[in-house]
Amino acid sequence: MPGRFTGQVAIVTAGGSGIGAATARRFAEEGAAVVIADLSGTRAEAVASNITTSGGRAAAIKMDASDPGAVRRTLQLAVDSFGRLDVMVNNAGLAEPAPLDEITLESWNRVIAVTLTSVFLGMKHCLPIMRARGKGVIVNTASVSGTRGDYGLSSYNAAKAGVINLTRSAALENARHHIRINCVCPGAIDTRGIQILGGDRADDLRRQHAAAHPIGRVGEAGEIASTVLFLASDEASFITGAAIVVDGGLTAHTGLPHFQRPTL
Ligand SMILES: NC(=O)c1ccc[n+]([C@@H]2O[C@H](COP(=O)([O-])OP(=O)(O)OC[C@H]3O[C@@H](n4cnc5c(N)ncnc54)[C@H](O)[C@@H]3O)[C@@H](O)[C@H]2O)c1
Repeated sequence: MPGRFTGQVAIVTAGGSGIGAATARRFAEEGAAVVIADLSGTRAEAVASNITTSGGRAAAIKMDASDPGAVRRTLQLAVDSFGRLDVMVNNAGLAEPAPLDEITLESWNRVIAVTLTSVFLGMKHCLPIMRARGKGVIVNTASVSGTRGDYGLSSYNAAKAGVINLTRSAALENARHHIRINCVCPGAIDTRGIQILGGDRADDLRRQHAAAHPIGRVGEAGEIASTVLFLASDEASFITGAAIVVDGGLTAHTGLPHFQRPTL
């Protein structure tokens, strides 16, 4: 059965792990050729080779999504290898937890560069290619942390809030060019990210995250990938400038303890 993306070409940044890897695999399963771009060339290669072994089309590139030259090389690879670009998924992000008054300027600049500037660069450089074709779709990975504050994550909160509003402005400017631009706002998703954030208390953190989500568990990378593919597909043809939360009900709650949370 032909997939929704047969004949199309997608780029996924930070595609070597977690949400990015799941998204790249789904695009390939639905017929797209995929460029997997990741700071870790090894992880990008592993995902690409997994796709090609299963009969799909993929290319890998080691890239830093906050480096303009690397972003341009990634776009060039897509066009050179597969002849076109239909979908750009700007998925790189970085959290460096610390109370605001302890965040160094270097850490602040790193988090903004990898989380927000990367999205700006990805969009800035793919837009001329999409405009030349007269259409395209961009999906950015934001976070529920861009819609609310977190203790100890202020630089990440600021950067992800930036991703959401940058998505809106970019969507406005490009709607008449037939380029739709949206973002997803995941709740806690079970990836390497949680492992790294939690360190030796990652299992505790996962349990606490699961309890914080009304649905009673953390999300799976594939559940975010499904939303990214929906937004990139023609089924979402009237959706642009949207920030779609995929969070098991987390942000539906005020956070106020009026009544007892049911035990699951
Ligand atoms: N996991 C979650 O709970 C969660 C929740 C909300 C939003 N997000 C966002 O989803 C995105 C993916 O997160 P994940 O949890 O799947 O990550 P992950 O830790 O599983 O994988 C991240 C990948 O990004 C790559 N990477 C890191 N810096 C990069 C850079 N500068 N350029 C290119 N690649 C880079 C890493 O090499 C790694 O392969 C991030 O933007 C993250 O902020 C994650």
